[in-house]
Amino acid sequence: MNCQCPLAPAAPSYYAAGIREVTRVAEILAVGEAMEPALALLLGGDVVAIPTETVYGLAGDATNGIGVARIFEAKGRPRFNPLIAHVADMAMAERIASFDPLSRKLALAFWPGPLTLVLPQRPGNGIHPLVTAGLDTIAVRMPRGFGGDLIARLGRPLAAPSANSSGKISATTAQAVAADLGGRIKLVVDGGATPVGLESTIVKAEGERLRLLRPGGIAADEIEAAIRMELLRGGIAGVEAPGMLASHYAPGAAVRLNAGTVGEGEALLAFGDQRAEGWRGATAFLNLSLSGDLREAASNLFAYMQDLDRSGARIIAVEPIPFDGLGEAINDRLSRAAAPRDNAQPTT
Ligand code: TXA
Ligand code: MG
Repeated sequence: MNCQCPLAPAAPSYYAAGIREVTRVAEILAVGEAMEPALALLLGGDVVAIPTETVYGLAGDATNGIGVARIFEAKGRPRFNPLIAHVADMAMAERIASFDPLSRKLALAFWPGPLTLVLPQRPGNGIHPLVTAGLDTIAVRMPRGFGGDLIARLGRPLAAPSANSSGKISATTAQAVAADLGGRIKLVVDGGATPVGLESTIVKAEGERLRLLRPGGIAADEIEAAIRMELLRGGIAGVEAPGMLASHYAPGAAVRLNAGTVGEGEALLAFGDQRAEGWRGATAFLNLSLSGDLREAASNLFAYMQDLDRSGARIIAVEPIPFDGLGEAINDRLSRAAAPRDNAQPTT
């Protein structure tokens, strides 16, 4: 295949033989030889599958919107769930999140290890809003082994969900990652079978207490012993839910989808190079991607929605966005923003 398109993978890799249409398959490199190739991909805004002690992660530079959009694209996630930001050390963690005393105690006791802490974000921390799905909290974890070394070399946090396509179970070997995502990513770093084999335990700071959001690799009673306090359980809409709360998706302005025209007092969120009628009269205007690139649009989505909301517009009109690839998740996010408000809950 000789594709001149700008988004085609640059470096040739192994190719699967025996079929007429040659398909790209991911290269699998052992941890001992993977550091430099992994760094090069991450610095270029691409993704890499890496071993952690829990499960394999599909990692991208958490400060690079295109890299983060590629994670969602490779997983085929139909919506933008918030991702865990993986850090190399406590200093990096403190730069992106504010620690309360209990959370700091847990970090010191269990990091590096299979514990994720959901904490308030530090403003201006450089983390791309697509990582947190626009939330003002952030999930932080310090992994053991290759992942930690890679983050230290990169000098920036890595966003990484489990390295499986949406709806499949988490992969615990490099071969499982390659079998599932191999056609969509360039590199799988092979660190052998992951020792823990299930995802990290997720705990969220809530006032003076901590809430268990997802049971995982560290038993809840170990955590309770460390803080000498019971964890709160249940009560919020579940781990998959933070990105789905209607309240979180509701901006101050009303949102009108598939707009072919722009009305009085409306701001316009555009896409592509075909403008809605009357667009020059929009009270504010931002284009998710002039070239119609869904990856670029995904990386701009949260920031642009916030900017248009802050402009004070009564209504944000949104031009039609195709449903293919990342378009499905973009449309999911926008339709939540446009949903009726009567049952909206306060933003968390
Ligand atoms: O062991 C693990 O945690 C693996 C490895 C790769 O680190 N990662 C993982 O990521 O399981 P993922 O994306 O499959 O699951 C992360 C969970 C999601 O259910 C998400 O809803 C939750 O973390 N999460 C992320 N940010 C959050 C936030 N700000 N508030 C509440 N939950 C959050
Ligand atoms: Mg997962």
